[in-house]
Amino acid sequence: KKAIIPAAGLGTRVLPASKAVPKEMLNIVDKPAIQYIVEEAFAAGIEDVLIITNRGKGVIEDHFDHAVELEHKLSGDPNKADLYRDVLQCSQMGNIYFIRQKETKGLGHAVLCAKNFVGNEPFAVLYGDDVIISDDPVTGQLCRAYEKYGKGAVGVKEVPTADITKYCSLAVAPLEGNCFTCTDMIEKPRPEQVMSNYSILGRVLLTPEIYDILAHTKPGAGGEIQLTDAMAEYARNCGGMTAVEFTGTHYDMGNKLRVVEAQVELALQHPEIGEAFRAYLKEFCKTL
Ligand code: UTP
Repeated sequence: KKAIIPAAGLGTRVLPASKAVPKEMLNIVDKPAIQYIVEEAFAAGIEDVLIITNRGKGVIEDHFDHAVELEHKLSGDPNKADLYRDVLQCSQMGNIYFIRQKETKGLGHAVLCAKNFVGNEPFAVLYGDDVIISDDPVTGQLCRAYEKYGKGAVGVKEVPTADITKYCSLAVAPLEGNCFTCTDMIEKPRPEQVMSNYSILGRVLLTPEIYDILAHTKPGAGGEIQLTDAMAEYARNCGGMTAVEFTGTHYDMGNKLRVVEAQVELALQHPEIGEAFRAYLKEFCKTL
């Protein structure tokens, strides 16, 4: 029922775009990235969402708040009914709460900031810069794995061998269908430390035991308190986790090329501009 969305990182990989605009607010066609993520959480049946921000990210709170003047203006114009609906929807998605991570000490530390919100229930973590487009929300895929196997779950995909050292690497054994048992993991492995090409891409489902581990997790890769380090201990000592090779297309908003690919692919599917964009793209491709 609960999800947290850490969105307090510095976004250094997409500077200068992320200097004044949080990378989680980078636009894909006509919605900021974080809106796709919040929509995924509610579509999966999550009831309460906590977004973790920091100084300079107040614009995320504004996006999910009422914009009274704008709404008033749009509501009075019958030609702008669709825009009015879309603007209003941002403030009516469900229960969204905010908390600040006062120092950028890493994803594990951000999750630690949500301890009181989580209480004594399992909870989902949707990384604020990972947009995943799927007819079957990935958060829901992890919830089903938790219900079936009774263990924390991680959403995974295979990444190319050349890239695995930039991600985390998981020790996995086949379980059933698209599910694996995960018994260990390592963040940003050196080539000789790689356990498989399976890596976590932006979605995990944890149980409150993770907080006992995060309380003593030391800074790891990049000098940050890494959620992966805490999950590695959890996987080794708490009976493993379930790795779910999820269905969906993943876009990392911290990767300039993926941001552009997200624009193109989602523009092609967009009900308003999809057809015209397809025609444009076909013509443009002839010039390449
Ligand atoms: P990333 O490591 O991808 O984000 O964290 P970053 O720190 O902004 O990375 P660079 O600078 O582009 O390399 C994944 C998610 O966790 C959040 C980020 O905002 C991102 O959505 N995060 C990261 C926090 O909330 N707090 C942190 O201390 C670090």
